[in-house]
Amino acid sequence: MRLKDKIAIITGAANGIGLATAQRFGEEGAKVVLADYDAEAGTVQEVELNKLGYAVKFIQVDVANRGSVNALVEQTLDHFGQIHILVNNAGITRDAMLTKMTEVDFSSVLNVNITGVFNCTQAVVPHLAKQGHGKIINTSSVSGVYGNVGQTNYAASKAAVIGMTKTWAKELGRKGINVNAVAPGFTSTAMVAKMPETIIDQMKSSVSLQRLGDPRDIANAYLFLASEESSYVHGHVLQVDGGIMM
Ligand code: CAA
Ligand code: NAI
Repeated sequence: MRLKDKIAIITGAANGIGLATAQRFGEEGAKVVLADYDAEAGTVQEVELNKLGYAVKFIQVDVANRGSVNALVEQTLDHFGQIHILVNNAGITRDAMLTKMTEVDFSSVLNVNITGVFNCTQAVVPHLAKQGHGKIINTSSVSGVYGNVGQTNYAASKAAVIGMTKTWAKELGRKGINVNAVAPGFTSTAMVAKMPETIIDQMKSSVSLQRLGDPRDIANAYLFLASEESSYVHGHVLQVDGGIMM
C-alpha cells in the first residue's frame, strides 16, 4: 500500500476528481477527510467510501473562508490526530468572454481558486513543519498554462496556483515538505459537463489521445505526488492532459 496510515485532507472531494482521489487514496491505505462545502454529496460519499472499508470523514468547509478552514484543520486533528497530505483540489468556474465577465464572476473564482488554496495551505503547514514532513499538492489546469477562451478569471487563478506552488517549494523544502501541482486537461466531471457540447467536441479532437480525461487519470497523478515515490519531485507542475498542446 502506497499511503498506508497516511492522513490526507482532500478539498472538493465530494464530487468529480476529488472524490475519485479519495477513493484512490483509500485503496492505498490512507485515511481521508472529504473537505467540501457540498454537504449533501459529502455525507453520502462518506457513507459509501466507509462501506468499501476505507477510513473516511466528511467535514464541511468553504475554502475561501479562513474561519471555516481553521475549523477543518482542528476537526481533522481531533478525528485522525495528524495530517500528512493536503490536496488543494476544490475549484470553480464562472466562464464568460472578457467583455461580458462581471466583477462578481471574476472575484468569486479568485476567492475560491487562489485564496482557498492559500487559506488551506497556511492552516496545514505548521502541522507538517512540526512533524518535519508532508506533502502539498495543488490543482492548476491546462487553462492556467495555456489560457482558454472564456476563462480570464479561471486561467488567472490557475496560473496563480503555479506561482504559489513554486514559491512554496522554495520556502518549505527545507522543512521537509514536498510541494507540487497537477495541471489536468479536460476531464469528465460536472465542471466540463457545463460547457457547450460543440466546444467539448472541439477540445476532445485537440487532445492527442482523442478523449477527455477520466477523474481516475488525475487521481493517479495526485497519488504519485502524495506517495514516497515522488520524494525528490519538488516544485513541479505535472500536466495530465492527454497531450492537449505540446
Ligand atoms: N476557441 C475559439 N473561439 C471560441 C471558443 C474557443 N474555444 N469559444 C468560443 N469562441 C468564439 C465563438 O465562436 C464566438 O465567435 P463569434 O463571435 O465569431 O461568433 C465567440 O467566441 C463568442 O462565443 P459564444 O457565442 O459562445 O459567446 P457566449 O458569450 O455565449 O459564451 C462562453 C461564451 C461562456 C465562454 C462559452 O463559449 C463557453 O462556455 N465556452 C467554454 C469555455 C471553456 O472552455 N470552459 C472550460 C470549462 S472546464 C474547465 O475549466 C476545466 C479546466 O480546467 C480545463
Ligand atoms: P467538480 O465541480 O466536479 O468538483 C469540485 C468540488 O469542489 C465540488 O465538490 C464542489 O462542491 C467543491 N467546491 C467548490 N467550491 C468550494 C469551496 N469554496 N469550498 C469547498 N469546496 C468547494 O470539479 P472537478 O472537475 O472535479 O475539479 C476539481 C479540480 O480540478 C478543480 O480545482 C478544477 O479547477 C480542476 N480542474 C478540472 C478540470 C476538468 O476538466 N474537470 C481540468 C483542470 C483542472
